[in-house]
Amino acid sequence: MKLVGAALVLLAISGCSADVVQDFTKNCSKFFANPDEIATPPTRFNEPQYKQICQTLNDSVEYATYYDTANRIPVYSAYRFEGFKNCSGRQGLWYIEPQLDQEDGDRNMAQKKTVPSKLRGKHQALNEDYKNSSYDRGHLIPLYYAKTRSCATATFTLTNAAPQNHTFNNDEWKKTEQKMGKILSTNCLNVGLSAYVVTGVIPGNEKINNRVNVPSYFWTSYCCLDNNNKPQISGGYYGANINNPVNNVSVSDLEILLTNEYKKGQFQLFGNGSCMAGQGSTEAFNLDRSRTGLFIKKDNDK
Ligand SMILES: *[C@@H]1O[C@H](CO)[C@@H](O)[C@H](O)[C@H]1NC(C)=O
Ligand SMILES: *[C@@H]1O[C@H](CO)[C@@H](O)[C@H](O)[C@H]1NC(C)=O
Ligand SMILES: *[C@@H]1O[C@H](CO)[C@@H](O)[C@H](O)[C@H]1NC(C)=O
Ligand SMILES: *[C@@H]1O[C@H](CO)[C@@H](O)[C@H](O)[C@H]1NC(C)=O
Ligand SMILES: *[C@@H]1O[C@H](CO)[C@@H](O)[C@H](O)[C@H]1NC(C)=O
Ligand SMILES: *[C@@H]1O[C@H](CO)[C@@H](O)[C@H](O)[C@H]1NC(C)=O
Ligand SMILES: *[C@@H]1O[C@H](CO)[C@@H](O)[C@H](O)[C@H]1NC(C)=O
Repeated sequence: MKLVGAALVLLAISGCSADVVQDFTKNCSKFFANPDEIATPPTRFNEPQYKQICQTLNDSVEYATYYDTANRIPVYSAYRFEGFKNCSGRQGLWYIEPQLDQEDGDRNMAQKKTVPSKLRGKHQALNEDYKNSSYDRGHLIPLYYAKTRSCATATFTLTNAAPQNHTFNNDEWKKTEQKMGKILSTNCLNVGLSAYVVTGVIPGNEKINNRVNVPSYFWTSYCCLDNNNKPQISGGYYGANINNPVNNVSVSDLEILLTNEYKKGQFQLFGNGSCMAGQGSTEAFNLDRSRTGLFIKKDNDK
C-alpha cells in the first residue's frame, strides 16, 4: 500500500502534462484500470501510425486516446468514470490535437488554426471532413459520462470521434451509453467500486472525404474494481454502425471480436486477468465475412 501511495504522490507531482506521448501509461496512467495495482491499458500495436494521446484541455488531463493517424479515427479512448455532471447543451466547437500534425505543437487540444495550414489535418480528421457527409462526429467518451465541465468540453475533440451513423448515434448507441452509465453508476460507484471505461471502433471499408475511415462497428467496455483493485464487474457492448440493436457481451467475447477484426495478435482491454469474466452475457456470435462488417448471432438472432 505504501508503494502505491508513493506512486500516486509521484504521479500528482509530475502531473500528466503531455499530449502525444511515447507511453500513456506513464504520462496519464490514471485512466486505465489497475487490476492487481498495475495500470493496464488496452492493447497497443507496433505500427508508427498509432499515437498515444493524453487528452489535455487547458493543462488539465481528462482521458486517454489511442489514435490511428492513417485512418484518422481513434482505436479507443480510455476513461475513469466518476459520475454524471448532467451537463446540458452541446457546444459547437470541436478541437483537434496540434501535436499530431506538428511535433512541437501545443500539448493542449486546440482549434485547427493553431496548426500551420500546410500541416493541418495531415494525421487527423478535421471538421471539414465531416461536413459533406451524412455522418455524425460520434463521441467515443461521451459527453454524458463527464463529471466536470472541463471534461465535458474535452470530449469535443476530433481525436475522440469517428464517423457515426446519425440515427445510430441518437438511438441505439445512445441507449447503450445510458444503459452502461446506469450500471457504472448503480452497480459500481454507488457500492464503492472504481469504474473504468474503454470505448472504441473497428475500421470499415469506406471513407468520408477520401480521408476519414467510417467504422463498421462501435464498441464499449467497462471494468469495476474494489478497494484492493480486484475486478468485480465487467462487460461490453458492440453495435454495427447502422441502427441495429446493440449486443451485450463479456469482455473476453469482445476481445475475441477485436482480435479477429484487427488481426494484430490478441487484443486485450483490461489486461489478461479477471476483468475478462464479468457479467455481460456471453451470447455467442459469428462474423459472417460474406456480409462486410455484419455480425450474425449464432442463435436467437432477433
Ligand atoms: C512522459 O513521462 C515520462 C516518464 O515520466 C517522461 O520522461 C516524459 O518526459 C513524459 N513525456 C512527455 C511528452 O511529457
Ligand atoms: C484555464 O484554466 C484557468 C485556471 O483554472 C482559467 O482561469 C481559464 O479561464 C481557463 N481557460 C479556458 C480557456 O478555459
Ligand atoms: C443527473 O440526472 C439524473 C437523472 O437524469 C439524476 O438521477 C441524478 O441525480 C443527476 N445527478 C446530478 C449530480 O445532478
Ligand atoms: C459533396 O458530396 C457530393 C456527393 O458525393 C458531391 O457531388 C459534391 O461535390 C461534394 N461537395 C463538396 C464541397 O465536397
Ligand atoms: C444509418 O442507419 C439507418 C438505420 O439503420 C439507415 O437507414 C441509413 O441508411 C444509415 N445511413 C448511412 C449513411 O449508412
Ligand atoms: C444483456 O442482454 C440480455 C438479453 O440478451 C439481458 O437479459 C441482460 O440484462 C443484458 N445485460 C446487460 C448488462 O445489459
Ligand atoms: C493470459 O493468461 C493465461 C493464463 O493465466 C495464459 O495462458 C495466457 O498465455 C496469457 N495470455 C497473454 C497474452 O498473456
